[in-house]
Amino acid sequence: MNNTLVVVGAQWGDEGKGKITDFYARSADVVVRHQGGNNAGHTIVFDGRKFALQSIPSGIFNPHIKNVMANGMVINPVSLVEELERLHKAGVTDYQLFISDRAACVMPYHQMLDGAYESLKGGRLIGTTKKGIGPAYTDKYSRVGIRMGDLLDAEYFAERLHDALLQKNLELKMLGMEQCDFDTLYAQYRELGERLRPMICDTSVMLNREMEQGSKILFEGAQGVMLCIDHGTYPFVTSSSPTAASVPLNTGLAPRYIDRVVGVCKAYTTRVGEGPFPTELHDDTAEYIRERGHEYGTVTGRPRRVGWFDAVVLNHVRRVSGINYLSLMLFDVLTGLDTLRICTGYRLDGRHIDYVPSTIAELSRCEAEYIELPGWTEDITSVSDYDSLPANAKAYISKIEELTSTEVAVVSVGPDREQTIVRRPIF
Ligand code: GDP
Ligand code: IMO
Ligand code: MG
Repeated sequence: MNNTLVVVGAQWGDEGKGKITDFYARSADVVVRHQGGNNAGHTIVFDGRKFALQSIPSGIFNPHIKNVMANGMVINPVSLVEELERLHKAGVTDYQLFISDRAACVMPYHQMLDGAYESLKGGRLIGTTKKGIGPAYTDKYSRVGIRMGDLLDAEYFAERLHDALLQKNLELKMLGMEQCDFDTLYAQYRELGERLRPMICDTSVMLNREMEQGSKILFEGAQGVMLCIDHGTYPFVTSSSPTAASVPLNTGLAPRYIDRVVGVCKAYTTRVGEGPFPTELHDDTAEYIRERGHEYGTVTGRPRRVGWFDAVVLNHVRRVSGINYLSLMLFDVLTGLDTLRICTGYRLDGRHIDYVPSTIAELSRCEAEYIELPGWTEDITSVSDYDSLPANAKAYISKIEELTSTEVAVVSVGPDREQTIVRRPIF
């Protein structure tokens, strides 16, 4: 076993990855965010305080932890500086943060284009966070992207920005949008680069050194595998891969270092933005869960769509991301419901299936097949050991383990760091 643990969102994001990363960070030497950008919103609650991190790793509150923003991320330097200022104002001033020189830089034209592409979709929106994530990853792959390290080299940055603007301004012009001025952008981003210079480095070299020294490294995924560009509900996905498989590529570490993966999932399911959601509810139960779970987006404030736990989704995610443990979150939210349902399969055009179809057309026609389990009424928010949970609550967890063939290592019964029941130590 390696000294690593990967935290993977096992549904459509917002599963509680921030809480769990912060929880495990106490035993880590290094915490690494490896993909996505400020489309993420990771909530952390401890000592009566609440923080919502967007692109900064969730180990930032511990001065001894090295926090890494790895090469697989897309980083908006303006928003990163604002996020750091917010932390400073909240008294978080003693931290270690390392930013990959190879990470992609989100530029203002990416954000402009994100909004414009959405409005060109003729009503068939993806419902992105409008942070420029898709356009920034697109530029990375079409090789006109600017990287964080480029901001530090006056001459090279000028060349890269010049070439990028040739393309981007043409695109903006065609869309009837205001074009970007080279001089203004150049001055602004050079300044941002200088401000971030002390933190920008080759994080792959650093992480490999840490591995060799036997450091404990925690990888914090953003989004969830159902939003994965390859394995998610394409095209209603984000533009990166939150799977454990993407960690080596996104960090510059060898695949042999990755063998322990905790899938973070809610005890029910939520989704923000558009796209198919077979177990979605539109009734009083949805309202009950939304209100008890405060199911409103951390970044955008949008109400999250709510549905029952879907074991088909979990098995898909387990398969494509190699999950070996589950962390079951927001379990307290289900208290008070008479009957709970778990989706065990889908009916597609009259036949039973147990997998997630690849096309949106087919997935949208899937009807969830459920089993029912009795609920519980006891308040579980102060329960600290597994055996003290109500019998029906334990039966619900056992059923999830049986249906997903995965052990539930952690049960979360409230947003606070302390409201965490550890059944099996895994890190
Ligand atoms: P992330 O994006 O995966 O880090 O999740 P978010 O922070 O966007 O959303 C999870 C929300 O659930 C946050 O408001 C958390 O404070 C909250 N939360 C996490 N775990 C629990 C839990 O066990 N119970 C309750 N009631 N809330 C939780
Ligand atoms: P965390 O890390 C939930 C969703 C958006 C949209 C789709 C594409 O907090 O779990 P994007 O801006 O990435 O191009 O939007 O993905 N989405 C998330 N949903 N949690 C997230 O992050 C998300 N990041 C993106 O709502 O449907
Ligand atoms: Mg979130």
